[in-house]
Amino acid sequence: MEIRSLGTSGLKVSCLSLGAMTFGESSTFMKGVTSTDDEARRVFDRAIERGVNLVDTANVYSEGRSEELVGKWVEGKRQKVLVATKCRFPMGFGLGSKPGPHDMGLSRKHIVEACEASLRRLATDVIDLYQVHMQDASVRIDETLRALDDLVTQGKVRYVGCSNYAGYRLVESLWSAEKNRTHRYESVQLQWSLLERGAEREVIPACRAHDLGVLVWSPLAGGFLSGKYRRGQPPPEGTRLAEWKDTMKRIGLERSYDLLDVLDGVAKRREATSAQVAVAWLLAKKEVSSVILGARTVAQLDDNLRAADLKLSADDVKELDDASAPDWAYPYAFIGRVQPW
Ligand SMILES: NC(=O)c1ccc[n+]([C@@H]2O[C@H](COP(=O)([O-])OP(=O)(O)OC[C@H]3O[C@@H](n4cnc5c(N)ncnc54)[C@H](OP(=O)(O)O)[C@@H]3O)[C@@H](O)[C@H]2O)c1
Repeated sequence: MEIRSLGTSGLKVSCLSLGAMTFGESSTFMKGVTSTDDEARRVFDRAIERGVNLVDTANVYSEGRSEELVGKWVEGKRQKVLVATKCRFPMGFGLGSKPGPHDMGLSRKHIVEACEASLRRLATDVIDLYQVHMQDASVRIDETLRALDDLVTQGKVRYVGCSNYAGYRLVESLWSAEKNRTHRYESVQLQWSLLERGAEREVIPACRAHDLGVLVWSPLAGGFLSGKYRRGQPPPEGTRLAEWKDTMKRIGLERSYDLLDVLDGVAKRREATSAQVAVAWLLAKKEVSSVILGARTVAQLDDNLRAADLKLSADDVKELDDASAPDWAYPYAFIGRVQPW
C-alpha cells in the first residue's frame, strides 16, 4: 500500500484508510446500516492485513460504540495502526434528549471533556490524530486551538486536524495558530467524490496553498458510485441509500445517472469496478493524503482496496473530471476561464 505524508506533518498514512462509521449498532443516524460486530471485526483485520495504517472513527459513531470496538481490536497492533477520532457533535443526538450548551461544540470545556471520554472508550493513552468534526462559529478560533494545543502538550493527542470547514474559517485557523504559536490543523477531512466536488472551490485550494493533509470522506457518495445503483430502479434493499430516502432524493437525479454511465464506461475499459474507478479518481488528485474507505462487508472492502493498484490515465481522469464537473459559479467560473484557481 502506498504511503503518503499527511501534509507537512511527520505522520505517514496509507493512501487508503478505514472508516469506522459502520462499526457498532447505532440508534441514531447510522441506524440499520452498520455491520454486525463480527463482520466489522473481519473488515478491520483485513484492512490492517492489507497495509491500511489509519483507522478513522468519531465519538458520535454508534454513540461511542465504534470507538470502543476500535480500541478493543487495535490492542496489540497499536504500534502499526494510527487511530484518528473526532469531537464536536453531541453524543446521543436524535434520541429525544436535547443536548445542553456544553454537550457539543468547540469550546475548551467540551473539547477537553470529549477527548477524555474518547481516550477512555478507545482504551488508549494517546490519540494519533484528533479532529474537530465541523467548525463552530460560536466559539473563538484561538480558544479551540489553545485547547487542542494543550491536549498535544499533555501527550493525549499527537496531531490535530479539522473536518467540514469553510475555506475562510480554515485559513483564519491557520493564521490564529501562527499568531498564537499553537499547533495548527495538519489535515482537513472533507467530503469529496465524483458526485460531490464542492470542496474544490475553496477548501482544496487552501489545503494546496498551505500544505495541509487531505483525508477524504464518503468517496463513493454513500455507495451511490459503487455500481449497484441503476437508473430507473429503486435502491437495492438493505443499503444505506434505501434507508436514507432524503439523501437518495437529493442525489438520485438524471445527471447523477449520466455520471454513472461514464463511470461504468471507464470501469469496463479498465477492467475494474465502478467503486475502484471512483476511488482511483480521488487517488489521482495530488492533494489527497488518504481516502477513507467505508465498507460494510469484507467483500466491499476487498473491492475498494483494489483501487490502490488501479492507476488511471490522464485521459481517464479528464473524462471523469468533465462528466462530474459541477456549476463552479462566480467567481470560480470567471477566474477559471483565465487560469486554474
Ligand atoms: N468527517 C465527516 O463528517 C464524515 C462523514 C461521513 C463519513 N466520514 C468518514 O468516512 C468514512 C467513509 O464514509 P462513507 O461510509 O460515507 O463512505 P462511502 O464509501 O461513500 O460509503 C460507504 C458505503 O457504501 C457501500 N459500499 C462501499 N463499498 C461498496 C462496494 N464496493 N460495493 C457496494 N457497496 C459499497 C456500503 O453501504 P451499503 O452496504 O449500506 O450500501 C458502505 O457502507 C466513514 O467511515 C467515516 O470514517 C466522515
